[in-house]
Amino acid sequence: MNEEQRKHGQQAAGQEDKKTEKDYSKYFQSVYIPPSLKDAKKRGKESVQYHNDFKIDEKFRGMGDNKKFYIRTYGCQMNEHDTEVMAGIFMALGYEATNSTEDADVILLNTCAIRENAENKVFGELGHLKHLKREKPELLIGVCGCMSQEESVVNKILKTYHQVDMIFGTHNIHRLPNILNDAYMSKAMVVEVWSKEGDVIENLPKVRRGNIKAWVNIMYGCDKFCTYCIVPYTRGKERSRRPEEIIQEVRHLASQGYQEVTLLGQNVNAYGKDIEDLENYGLGDLMDELRKIDIPRIRFTTSHPRDFDDHLIEVLAKKGNLVEHIHLPVQSGSSAVLKIMARKYTRERFLELVGKIKAAMPDTALTTDIIVGYPNETEEQFEETLSLYREVGFESAYTYIYSPREGTPAAKMNDNVPMEVKRERLQRLNKLVNEYSAEALKQYEGKIVEVLVEGESKKNPEILAGYTRRNKLVNFKAPKTTIGKTVKVKITDTKSWSLNGEFVEEGRIGSEFLEEAAEVK
Ligand code: 5AD
Ligand code: SF4
Repeated sequence: MNEEQRKHGQQAAGQEDKKTEKDYSKYFQSVYIPPSLKDAKKRGKESVQYHNDFKIDEKFRGMGDNKKFYIRTYGCQMNEHDTEVMAGIFMALGYEATNSTEDADVILLNTCAIRENAENKVFGELGHLKHLKREKPELLIGVCGCMSQEESVVNKILKTYHQVDMIFGTHNIHRLPNILNDAYMSKAMVVEVWSKEGDVIENLPKVRRGNIKAWVNIMYGCDKFCTYCIVPYTRGKERSRRPEEIIQEVRHLASQGYQEVTLLGQNVNAYGKDIEDLENYGLGDLMDELRKIDIPRIRFTTSHPRDFDDHLIEVLAKKGNLVEHIHLPVQSGSSAVLKIMARKYTRERFLELVGKIKAAMPDTALTTDIIVGYPNETEEQFEETLSLYREVGFESAYTYIYSPREGTPAAKMNDNVPMEVKRERLQRLNKLVNEYSAEALKQYEGKIVEVLVEGESKKNPEILAGYTRRNKLVNFKAPKTTIGKTVKVKITDTKSWSLNGEFVEEGRIGSEFLEEAAEVK
């Protein structure tokens, strides 16, 4: 164990359940640093340390020569971006990427813990991989991402999924070379999960998935502890990257020809609060600097209504490369449910915020996340969610049935809402969401919009596809040379989830300017 491992390991081991340790000790002889949700909950006063000194140890160079890696990603954009970092580390070690599990020498499942069905998919996949491991015993199988931060998951894998060679957590990504090395050297399962978050490591290599749109982390972790949510435990405390590092990364992406950047964080509106030497520096200030960079589009996700301040609204209203779309998860329309969820705003406060956003930016599309069937949610409370949806006029939503997550306060609540009632509520909500989405798309008919062309459509290579500034998918015929560029498209008709249109010409409109086609022609 080195100094870094010891710092994190001792803390986790100290809190460890003795029974677990005894039961599974036979499976590990080398590295065994298990997760602890209890430790993950603690929020210390220590300041975040920034590092710029990541490098691949000489002794690991060439580890991946003539070997291939495969990473399957579940869950959110944060995970997608972590996969880009892990791919960067694999490449630096000499591995090549492959799209096939059969060809791979190392398979990683980058997992999501947000709901039970996300976890079930991973266990199912591990089951499928068992035969590969039998045919090819030298294959390494790893589990990383949010699920590896959960004790119950690690224990289940140790007990039942012996085809797994390594489990490592969200704070251990930079240790991938050491973890791989340990897995090659040991017959036992390597488990390295730090429950206390790491520092911010700036110079990790990355292999981005595309060359048109890019993700940029602006902060890590979450301190909100909404009562249903596992994320503050799996991703640790809020840590912001320094603005100069973010600005430099976005400038670099712009110089490489990227057309769109999405700023990432679990709760981007808390950006900057933890940076000690920057007083009152927030997301609004950061966006105000980023909008001066010559890149066509900047988005951000995900917002928390509580921290969404007036300065940010003021800056977003300047538009330019700041697009007219805000994803603003509300979760419920009932103040009583919001209180139990510990969202720390009421229905009225949320509507007030929406009112401010609409007044400053009338053409901004608002989308949201909603959970139905929270423990003891009444029919009236659910109806308040429907009425809030109508009142705001959201253009789209991700909707979920509440899924209890072990270790969170909501999982301990008694719940008197039967599953069939939850399912029926979800159906009613989805019906409303679909009506509003269709309505939102209808207003585009006959108008000209700005589309960033991403490539061929999934269904037909003759057709190109891209998104508007308000994040609407558009399919249209145009020369392939327009891929990666911003073009104007006249919308001819609408589908349930997308728009069809005709290519007009290359160029930007600069905002989601719904000009009448006739006026432009
Ligand atoms: N059950 C159901 N949905 C959840 N979400 C987060 N935790 C849970 C849970 N335990 C949803 C929230 C969040 C989105 C990313 O996932 O709506 O905004
Ligand atoms: Fe989870 Fe709430 Fe944090 Fe979002 S803000 S990640 S829902 S705890």
